Amino acid sequence: MLSYRHAFHAGNHADVLKHAVETLIIEQLKSKEKPFCYLDTHAGGGCYDLSGEWPQKKAEYLDGIARLWPERQHWPELAAYWDVIATLNESELRFYPGSPEIARHLLREQDKLMLMELHNQEIEILRRHIGSDSRSAIHHRDGFEGLLALLPPTPRRGLVLMDPPYELKEDYQRVLQTLKKAMQKWATGIYALWYPILGKDADRSRSMLELFKYAGFPSALVAELEVAAQPDEWGMNGSGMLILNAPWQLDGQLTTLLPRLCTQLAQSNEARWRLEWLAKPE
Ligand SMILES: C[S@@+](CC[C@H](N)C(=O)[O-])C[C@H]1O[C@@H](n2cnc3c(N)ncnc32)[C@H](O)[C@@H]1O
Repeated sequence: MLSYRHAFHAGNHADVLKHAVETLIIEQLKSKEKPFCYLDTHAGGGCYDLSGEWPQKKAEYLDGIARLWPERQHWPELAAYWDVIATLNESELRFYPGSPEIARHLLREQDKLMLMELHNQEIEILRRHIGSDSRSAIHHRDGFEGLLALLPPTPRRGLVLMDPPYELKEDYQRVLQTLKKAMQKWATGIYALWYPILGKDADRSRSMLELFKYAGFPSALVAELEVAAQPDEWGMNGSGMLILNAPWQLDGQLTTLLPRLCTQLAQSNEARWRLEWLAKPE
């Protein structure tokens, strides 16, 4: 049974990191006229009303997007991200776009979206938000299997965003297994994997990255943001993005962006960021 619902976490620091990276990659893909596709293996509902009961429960967005939105004119490097959020809101920040909604706003007429979601209710929410967009195909299915079935996609350029909830420990293995197979089917795709950094007793990100390091991927870039010290037990103090086949210049963009995000989103003076090539392309 799937219990994770993204509305409880929408717009938090992890969403900001993930969606900033997603936006930067999509904008790079748009620098060529040629069409591309955006595949989202764990799409979620697509758009979140931050004034709703679930986002208000812990109000995680207050330490995420709400810290940046009033300062957006000082962040021209995220202009496309602000444009998407602006189309959903009038003066106040109320609606926050999920990853498929961000892609939908940024993609052009010639581009395609392929979205997968397994949860019976989330898929309906996603269909309501995005279903009428003729560039999109929405699949109610397991995103790991679905991705492999859809590769290689047409058009052949593009980005896969993989954002599982890691409710199940198997997710840590499945991301690696799936990405290895995906690279065999579509070696030139860009793959962006989100993962949480949890308290010391629960965290699996270090061991997962160690496996990725020796998995033979020709290009693997890691971008992490921890907004506070890692707790001993439970809790998520940060998150990371592992990008396979990162477009050129992304590491330069992140070198500037990550320290700024770290300062703006810090919840203690032990906040930190990291940008590292696990495998650097020739
Ligand atoms: C972290 S949320 C996605 C958030 C979304 N990517 C965003 O950034 O707005 C993870 C989603 O994956 C869905 N999910 C869980 N297991 C799945 C699976 N095996 N295949 C596809 N979707 C799954 C959950 O229902 C949830 O909506």
